[in-house]
Amino acid sequence: MRIVLVGPPGAGKGTQAQFIASHLSIPKISTGDIFRANVSGGTELGILAKQYMDKGDLVPDEVTVAMVRDRIAQPDAVSGFLLDGFPRNVPQAETLRDMLADNGQAVDKVLELVVDEEEVVRRLSGRRTCGQCGRIWHVDFDEGRDDVCDDCGGRLFQRDDDKEEVVRHRLEVYKEQTEPLVEFYEKEGVLAGIDATGSVEDVTARALAALRPA
Ligand code: AP5
Repeated sequence: MRIVLVGPPGAGKGTQAQFIASHLSIPKISTGDIFRANVSGGTELGILAKQYMDKGDLVPDEVTVAMVRDRIAQPDAVSGFLLDGFPRNVPQAETLRDMLADNGQAVDKVLELVVDEEEVVRRLSGRRTCGQCGRIWHVDFDEGRDDVCDDCGGRLFQRDDDKEEVVRHRLEVYKEQTEPLVEFYEKEGVLAGIDATGSVEDVTARALAALRPA
């Protein structure tokens, strides 16, 4: 199954991606994670991406598309994948459609995580990510986890782009560039919107229900 997750920054895409992908035994492909790994590794791609990420802007399409094209061609993604953070605008969605069509494939389902702006700001201000395994935690909702990952013992860190002014800009970028994807995928007949408020477990259950064949 080929799945795309859409939703504003902080909607819980990364959180849900880890559970949904594991449940369906497909790889989770997060463009944000790939960029962050390149930033940490000091690669050429990371140095370029960081200039955009620190401001909350999108990394240029040609860079992002080439990276995704390469990743979804890997053997583990041949029979399915879950995309978190890609596509991020209509041109990226059109390119993905053409890329998959070349192999007789298509996106099967797009899950839109629906959550209001106030909740998003609350979630992002308390987000902590494990530097070792990538697991996402929250200082308020996952009590006591503000320093060390319960899963692997790695150190937790706060993302540079979770500063308030950058978060506000990321939300503007989402509204202008990413939200039009909802209409794009509605027209393609693959969109399923789910309420992304409530507990992580409840949202996962709604997501898995939306992915079940009718
Ligand atoms: P990216 O990493 O994709 O960031 P994003 O889309 O802004 O999304 P986030 O990762 O901030 O939020 P999320 O929805 O994953 O929420 P999470 O699960 O962590 O992109 C970063 C940057 O990379 C971009 O700004 C851009 O520069 C670049 N980039 C990436 N893709 C690109 C592309 N395709 N084209 C161009 N540039 C690109 O949850 C947030 C917090 O809430 C966590 O602490 C979590 O524990 C908590 N939480 C989650 N669910 C719940 C719940 N149900 N209840 C309570 N707390 C919850």
